[in-house]
Amino acid sequence: MPKICIGTASFTNPKYGFCSAKSDREKNQFFKICKENKIDAFDTAPRYEGSENLLGNFQDQINFISTKVEGIDPNLSEDKIYRGIINSIESSLIKLKKDRLNLCYLHQNELEIISNQKVINALENVRKIGLIEEYGASIYTLEELKCVLNMKRFGWVQIPLNILDTSFLQEIKVNKNEIKVAARSIILQGLLLSTDSQKSVLEKFPNFNEFMNKLRNISKKLSIHLSTLLISYIFSLKDLDLVITGTSSSSNLQELISASKLQLDKKTVGILDKLSSLPKEWTNPKLW
Ligand SMILES: NC(=O)c1ccc[n+]([C@@H]2O[C@H](COP(=O)([O-])OP(=O)(O)OC[C@H]3O[C@@H](n4cnc5c(N)ncnc54)[C@H](OP(=O)(O)O)[C@@H]3O)[C@@H](O)[C@H]2O)c1
Repeated sequence: MPKICIGTASFTNPKYGFCSAKSDREKNQFFKICKENKIDAFDTAPRYEGSENLLGNFQDQINFISTKVEGIDPNLSEDKIYRGIINSIESSLIKLKKDRLNLCYLHQNELEIISNQKVINALENVRKIGLIEEYGASIYTLEELKCVLNMKRFGWVQIPLNILDTSFLQEIKVNKNEIKVAARSIILQGLLLSTDSQKSVLEKFPNFNEFMNKLRNISKKLSIHLSTLLISYIFSLKDLDLVITGTSSSSNLQELISASKLQLDKKTVGILDKLSSLPKEWTNPKLW
C-alpha cells in the first residue's frame, strides 16, 4: 500500500481548493492523529504561504519532507541556477527546522525547465552536497510526464491521479520506468466531493456529470460513501509510492485513514480500472 503524505497547500490558505464545511482544523489535534496513525510524510512549498513555518513547529513528527523550488530562470548559467536553488532550499530548511530535505520537486512544470540539463545538473550537485536526498518533477500534462520519463534523471515524479483518471500512472507502467511516483489531487482539490463547486466544470465539460453519476451508482450499490470509494480505489492501485492528500480537517483525515485500508472487491476495481484508464481533460485544474 502506498504511504500517506499530507499535502499542505490549504493549511494556511483556506481559499485554496474546495474545502469541506468542517471546522475541525486545530493543528495540534490534526498532528496528534497523524502521530497515532504513524503518518510522518508531509509535502509543502515556499508558495504555500506559512505552511513551511507551520510544519517547523511539528518537525519532530516529520520523517519525510518534500518541498519545492521555483523562480528558476533557465537562461542563467548553471552556477547561478545552482546558487538560486541552494538559497531557496536553505530558506525552506530554516523554516522547516530540518538540516536536509528528503525530496525536492521543481515547482515549475514547463518543458523548458524540466528538460533543462543545467537545472538538473544543479539539482544533482545540490544532492551531492547533502542538502537533499532526492529530486523530482511535478507535472500537469502527458507531454511533461513523457519528458520526465525520457530524461531518466529524476528520482520522483508527482502526478495528478483520481478515481476517474489514472492515465498518467498507466503511462509510467507502459514505460516500465523505475521512477518513484507520488499521486496528488486525488479529490481534485475537493471538487469530486463538492457538488456546488462542480457547476462551472459541468458547463465546460459535459461528460463530467456522466462519470460522476457512474461513481454515485457504484457507491450506492456498495453502500459506501463516495469519499470512501474515491479514496479506497486510489489506495488499491499498485506502483504508487506516496499518496498526497490535501485535507486539513481532522475528521476528513480520519476518514481517509479508514478508507485507505478498505479493500474493494475485484469486480468493482475492474469497473473502476476501465472508467479511469482514459485521460480526462478536467483532471487539469488549469483548464477549469
Ligand atoms: N504543482 C504541485 O506540485 C502541486 C499541485 C497541486 C497540489 N500539490 C500538493 O498536493 C496536495 C493535495 O492537492 P489537492 O488540494 O489538489 O488535493 P486533494 O486531496 O485532491 O483535495 C483536497 C481538498 O479536498 C477536500 N477534502 C478532503 N477530504 C474530504 C472529504 N472527506 N470530504 C470533503 N472534502 C474533502 C479538502 O478539504 P478539507 O480540508 O475540508 O478536508 C481539500 O479542500 C497539496 O496540498 C499539495 O501539497 C502539488
